[in-house]
Amino acid sequence: PAPAPAPAPAPEKPKEILIGANFELTGNVATFGVSTVNGIEMAFAEINAKGGVLGQQLKLVKGDNKSDSGESTNVATKLVTQDKVVTLLGPVTSTNVLAAVPVATQFKVPIITSSGTNPKVTVDDSGKTREWAFRTCFIDPFQGFVAANFALNTLKAKTAAIYIDKNSDYSKGLAEVFEKTFTEKGGKVVAKEGFTTDDKDFRATLTKIKATKPDVLFVPAYYEQDGLIAKQARELGYTNPILGGDGWDSDKLLQIAGAKALQEVYFVNHYSAQDTDPKVVKFVNDYKAKYNSVPDALAALGYDTAYLLADAIKRAGSAEPAKIRDALAATKGFSGVTGNVSLDEKHNPVKGAVVLSFDKDGKLVFKEKVNP
Ligand code: PHE
Repeated sequence: PAPAPAPAPAPEKPKEILIGANFELTGNVATFGVSTVNGIEMAFAEINAKGGVLGQQLKLVKGDNKSDSGESTNVATKLVTQDKVVTLLGPVTSTNVLAAVPVATQFKVPIITSSGTNPKVTVDDSGKTREWAFRTCFIDPFQGFVAANFALNTLKAKTAAIYIDKNSDYSKGLAEVFEKTFTEKGGKVVAKEGFTTDDKDFRATLTKIKATKPDVLFVPAYYEQDGLIAKQARELGYTNPILGGDGWDSDKLLQIAGAKALQEVYFVNHYSAQDTDPKVVKFVNDYKAKYNSVPDALAALGYDTAYLLADAIKRAGSAEPAKIRDALAATKGFSGVTGNVSLDEKHNPVKGAVVLSFDKDGKLVFKEKVNP
């Protein structure tokens, strides 16, 4: 009898490129992580629908760092050693990124944060660029400069109080730049106070601050604290402007503070959903259709970062971590929703910023744009 025909070879499963996502999906800055992952997943879906990268599909392997720096180290380690991802995306906050960079460095895998703005994220204390660490957002020296100029020039503030989250590298770094720029240009800092991330009652310190009669109160922190601080400051009768950095950007802020407390609140951010640039309009519409909400800056930054990574893998012609690293370092003129990205020798882009405020209902309003 004729020998049985050889079984047909199983159809080859399309290969996937595994990308790790180490994000704040629960905990005190959860909206940051959830928005960023939404943006990344939307970009990956678009890229995969067009055939993926190098003929392979991009697959996001997600881990929740619970908004905690120790968990950030654990999640990064798991993604690299067990899931064998070829690049790490995230976390959002500078402190949590700083906790994951040593893992990326040890295992020689690129790590890209789309939102960690503290300079130390990509440069160590001796000023040396961290070989494996990249970011796609502006840095705090620029953001603090924009905030201080806005206080002086637009708000016409002569005095400022600063209220700092002592547990946050972001908060401390941003406060420092704000103070430096504000005082160098003739402003006076009349109060400087601190709180810790777990604080819920800021009234005693806010009473002290209010007594110094600052023209503006600068709060470089994240939305859970920002919302409570705005609410309590207004309840205590502080009516002058409150100014913040990108950490104010969350749809939970309105829930926490209420629209009334957000009047005369301004903050620096990476993009405005009201931008009329066709690229932004398309992104905002697509995002609304997919998630039924207006994309915040985190979502836009996540979206851009996913495309930038896909572009780097394409240019590398390989999904090997070291080749991706080299291609990332060579990124020039990448055009995204949040601006153009050319990475300098410190793995930082130079991008513009916007200042946002709130309308009567607590909806975000574009105030001004600041080019670098
Ligand atoms: N820039 C913040 C940090 O470094 C994170 C952040 C970015 C938060 C953008 C909100 C919006 O910690």
